[in-house]
Amino acid sequence: LAEKVGLKEKIKALLKQKNAVLVAHYYVDSDLQDLAEETGGCVSDSLEMARFGRDHAAKTLVVAGVKFMGETAKILSPEKTILMPDLDATCSLDLGCDPVEFSAFCDAHPDRTVVVYANTSAAVKARADWMVTSSVGLDIVAELHAQGKKILWAPDKHLGSYIQKQTGADMLLWQGSCLVHDEFKGVELEILKEQYPDAKVLVHPESPAAVVALADVVGSTSQLINAAINLEAPQFIVATDNGILHKMQMAAPGKTFIVAPTAGNSASCKSCAHCPWMAMNGLRNLLSVLETESNQIQVDPKVGSEAKIAIDRMLDFAA
Ligand code: 13P
Ligand code: SF4
Repeated sequence: LAEKVGLKEKIKALLKQKNAVLVAHYYVDSDLQDLAEETGGCVSDSLEMARFGRDHAAKTLVVAGVKFMGETAKILSPEKTILMPDLDATCSLDLGCDPVEFSAFCDAHPDRTVVVYANTSAAVKARADWMVTSSVGLDIVAELHAQGKKILWAPDKHLGSYIQKQTGADMLLWQGSCLVHDEFKGVELEILKEQYPDAKVLVHPESPAAVVALADVVGSTSQLINAAINLEAPQFIVATDNGILHKMQMAAPGKTFIVAPTAGNSASCKSCAHCPWMAMNGLRNLLSVLETESNQIQVDPKVGSEAKIAIDRMLDFAA
């Protein structure tokens, strides 16, 4: 504990000294989330992280999350230094969508508007017409559908088919998935719901359709936290990364939060449903990058400026 306090104090001093701000995702270690809030940074979903980083006056952003979040920050603010505690923190959706294969997929379907999820590389975003996050993907596709557009969607197949069902849009889906959310199971969730008949079910749309079908609320991490605050219920069953429980418990004290069941694990499994790449962010490597300014995110300027068009479209839509 004393070591933790010491690390936190050093990090706070360095953030100040370097005019740097910490931007954290809800899935990272709770100490990092608290530090971000205590030091005037932000802890949020990926849309708000992008917006906060773009609008903040600090010269250096430290992004505690995964690579696509750091890249988005760099694309939106090429003049800023973007640091990440571990540059190997990636995402299974990003890994499963190779830019060359994706480009060939787009070339084969030139009649479709290309919409990609934020969880992709800068090169994939550069090939897209739109980038969306889970908080606005549905509204953006609904609007494109209303304009008569046919969609090519990548990479998350579960989020894509959820949006397709909700909007009725013509969507051709890339077959990627998130290794954390793909593990949630509908049948086990149904059994758990019987044990907690008063519980509300909160589901991130990267989860399989059988899990989404049992949800009271489907949304981005920020939207799920708002639901935890605003919905009247004694318990909540939560189908997303367990890192989110820290904020839910703080924001809605007195309510009980249970991680939804994953394959072969009981509902009480606290270490299940955690992203291995988000878990690479810790106090020690955060301090080390602040000391050395190593682990800077770089994006090829040409790729970045092409990707920025797709990101800006979303930010303008969501403004
Ligand atoms: P949010 O945009 O909802 O925070 O989701 C990001 C993510 O990686 C979910 O797995
Ligand atoms: Fe990617 Fe899934 Fe980790 Fe989110 S939880 S960063 S989608 S692997």
